[in-house]
Amino acid sequence: MTSQVGHSLYVIPAGTPEKERLGKQYAFKRALSQWNSPIPPSLDVSGIANVLDIGAGTCVWTFDFANLPEVRSRLNIPGKEPSKGTNPVQLYACDIETKFFPDRALLDEFGVKTFQQDVTTPFPPKYHGKFDIVHLSFLFLCLTREGWTKALRNINQVLKPGGILFMDEVDPILYPNIAAIPDEDAPGHDLKTQLTRPDWLGKGNRMYTAHSIESGFVTDLTYRLPSMLNAAGFEVKESHRVYGLLGKHAADRPDLADFVEFSIENFVFVFRHLAKNLLAKDKLFTPDGTAVKTEEELEDMLREVEQGARREGAALIDTFFVAIKKS
Ligand SMILES: C[S@@+](CC[C@H](N)C(=O)[O-])C[C@H]1O[C@@H](n2cnc3c(N)ncnc32)[C@H](O)[C@@H]1O
Repeated sequence: MTSQVGHSLYVIPAGTPEKERLGKQYAFKRALSQWNSPIPPSLDVSGIANVLDIGAGTCVWTFDFANLPEVRSRLNIPGKEPSKGTNPVQLYACDIETKFFPDRALLDEFGVKTFQQDVTTPFPPKYHGKFDIVHLSFLFLCLTREGWTKALRNINQVLKPGGILFMDEVDPILYPNIAAIPDEDAPGHDLKTQLTRPDWLGKGNRMYTAHSIESGFVTDLTYRLPSMLNAAGFEVKESHRVYGLLGKHAADRPDLADFVEFSIENFVFVFRHLAKNLLAKDKLFTPDGTAVKTEEELEDMLREVEQGARREGAALIDTFFVAIKKS
């Protein structure tokens, strides 16, 4: 049975550069997070049977999860069934865009079943109540407010009672440093200030934040998710705020030495796509409200952001949530 598949709002095409970027981004995020694992220490995987990664992209998390020793030995792989007495684990991954998925041979090595699914439409009934763990990561540049409401309900529907949603999302706003970011219990971001600041960060936000506003995405997602999860039938058990660090701030942390260059390239790559999208709609502006009209001006803006990040650094929020389906 195939589900109805809608139109993706994600503007970065599923080509090799994006697939490679997603792999490196995952490694960087893993280095930034507090646990050196695809899951937080509180998640007990001993009794699980079915796991689903939604908006899985290249399945980078699924493979990392599959390699956990307590999962690897139990994987349900056709022809290599786990020994009798062990409870098998079946991995699933879905995405609205199947071009992100890796080759079938690699998926088969871990027994990963894949399917196409728009998370904002209900999953086929055969998946309802099936999963012990659902993972979701980095759909903040993909879903509108209404999309999130539908997505969280649909995710709730595919979990078993007591099943776990493990997710992490970002607010698309660059700050000069961690101290400048509003606290977790603040009402949210002061978008006007961050979009009109006259420095290179204002220019970055005129691409990153403005693209989200223009697309109807939720710019203060990490602040809103606790109540959105609650409304969708979840109880939030844990949340962990991690700070994404760019350029100089990453360079100041010896443990992030391998990621300093990537921290800049990553944002330049993403911002170029978002800014081109805005330019095509005549919606790209500098912080003082002047319209950016040509690709050359756009490239000048990007260069300033790149140099600023190298020189001064930037920070942003990524929050991890562990939420349980209320029975
Ligand atoms: C930034 S990528 C993140 C991929 C992966 N979760 C990761 O962390 O590497 C966003 C992914 O969400 C997928 N996506 C966008 N809209 C979606 C939707 N409505 N339903 C399901 N997946 C969607 C995209 O195709 C893309 O693979």
